[in-house]
Amino acid sequence: MNKHEIDVAPPCTLFLFGANGDLVKRLLMPALYNLSRDGLLDKQLRIVGVDHNAATDAEFAERLQAFMRERDKGAGEGADKCLDDKLWARLAKRIGYLTGDFLEDATYQDIAQRIEKSRNGNAIFYLATSPRFFSGVVQKLGAAGLLDESNGFRRVVVEKPFGHDLASAEALNACLLKVMSEKQIFRIDHYLGKETVQNILVSRFSNGLFEAFWNNHYIDHVQITAAETVGVETRGAFYDTTGALRDMVPNHLFQLLAMVAMEPPAAFGADAVRTEKAKVIGAIRPWSKAMALKNSVRGQYVEGKQGRKKLPGYRQEPRVDPESNTETYVALKVMIDNWRWVGVPFYLRTGKRMSVRDTEIAICFKPAPYAQFRDADLERPKPNYLKIQIQPNEGMWFDLQAKRPGPALVMENVELGFAYKDFFKMQPSTGYETLIYDCLTGDQTLFQRADNIENGWRAVQPFLDAWKDAAEVQPYPAGEDGPAAADELLARDRRVWHSIG
Ligand code: BG6
Repeated sequence: MNKHEIDVAPPCTLFLFGANGDLVKRLLMPALYNLSRDGLLDKQLRIVGVDHNAATDAEFAERLQAFMRERDKGAGEGADKCLDDKLWARLAKRIGYLTGDFLEDATYQDIAQRIEKSRNGNAIFYLATSPRFFSGVVQKLGAAGLLDESNGFRRVVVEKPFGHDLASAEALNACLLKVMSEKQIFRIDHYLGKETVQNILVSRFSNGLFEAFWNNHYIDHVQITAAETVGVETRGAFYDTTGALRDMVPNHLFQLLAMVAMEPPAAFGADAVRTEKAKVIGAIRPWSKAMALKNSVRGQYVEGKQGRKKLPGYRQEPRVDPESNTETYVALKVMIDNWRWVGVPFYLRTGKRMSVRDTEIAICFKPAPYAQFRDADLERPKPNYLKIQIQPNEGMWFDLQAKRPGPALVMENVELGFAYKDFFKMQPSTGYETLIYDCLTGDQTLFQRADNIENGWRAVQPFLDAWKDAAEVQPYPAGEDGPAAADELLARDRRVWHSIG
């Protein structure tokens, strides 16, 4: 995030472990294609898929191209909708494939040879594999001397989920830090690749106005919502052992919380930004078991409808236990115990199969006093909200009260707004472009440091512990906005959820 002029990234060999998986074809290759289209990849950059199925370099490249063509036809979200054959041919020349078992020494000998053949010694190992391979691959890379940086940089990108609770995240960090330094580790959270998420920091800290009221004197509470219309799709087996809390909260939702709540960093550099994030997430109050239960709601979608379309319940989804008690929706109340935020609740909610797709932060300000309106027999003024919409309609909106024109004194809610589409022409992107580019250039600002990850798990661990022997899931119909208990969570505090969509 330091740069305003973009240079071609340094050359390297980028090894994609889990090359035949969804992430590579859906997101990483389209992102690399977009970077190549924008002239940001060095001519010497090589991309090498690593996986156990046998294939040649050409077969691997052809499969990727075929997938991207199909995507063009379906014009899926984030896809570049006009795969240019010439551009692709340029990229395809740099694509290779290496057949190998992730846990066999021979694979790492082959990798070493590929690096030797390149004219530079730089290498990035991208772990787009199932998380059960993370520690094994990293140990093998270390044992084979492939993380030694004497002949060029060596970096490892780790996808989520990074652990499934605090203890496993700590163990994984310890395993990584045994064979390399923190500077070599790039823990990805794809939310940080989103323009609108990066914009929270820029908007907060470049507009003098915001800082004046960004605290517990003026803000009543904050709501962070990530509502999805999709169900668990083909990921039933993974999701059933994960659930909405682990899948979305310690990572994506806490990134949003940190962007909104952190103190201004001394600079927009990796260490300063990540230190402030670690501090604010570390300041989340650890609830007792009873309070964790009181301040959380777990929901699970049952059969429902989207328009006229009938939707199955979660327990009927493929590869899901028909008696599953896994949550597909979670709502939480958390408190941040520091000077800026003491007394300001942060309400978080995320769910699958909700009525609309909407990721947003709603900042609710304290209401104006009523005395001056009492004699005029006016309703109490509604609180002002600042809504920062991350997706799909990216922008920021501020609710104000205004007088409706006419002889009567009537107040109405109006909006000041900024929509990205009205100001900026955005190229199609997957969100991974910035992250891959930053990894190539060695900028860790948008990646999670070990303490960021561990503080996130530390803050959700009380909920995981409390739910172990209690907390049945509350049903909600697919296509609706979560269980009634989530409304009660706010009603108890005399508040309501900001309407989504
Ligand atoms: C992923 C989760 O990390 O994020 C998915 O595993 C979820 O379950 C996805 O659907 C949401 O990402 P986005 O960018 O669509 O908000």
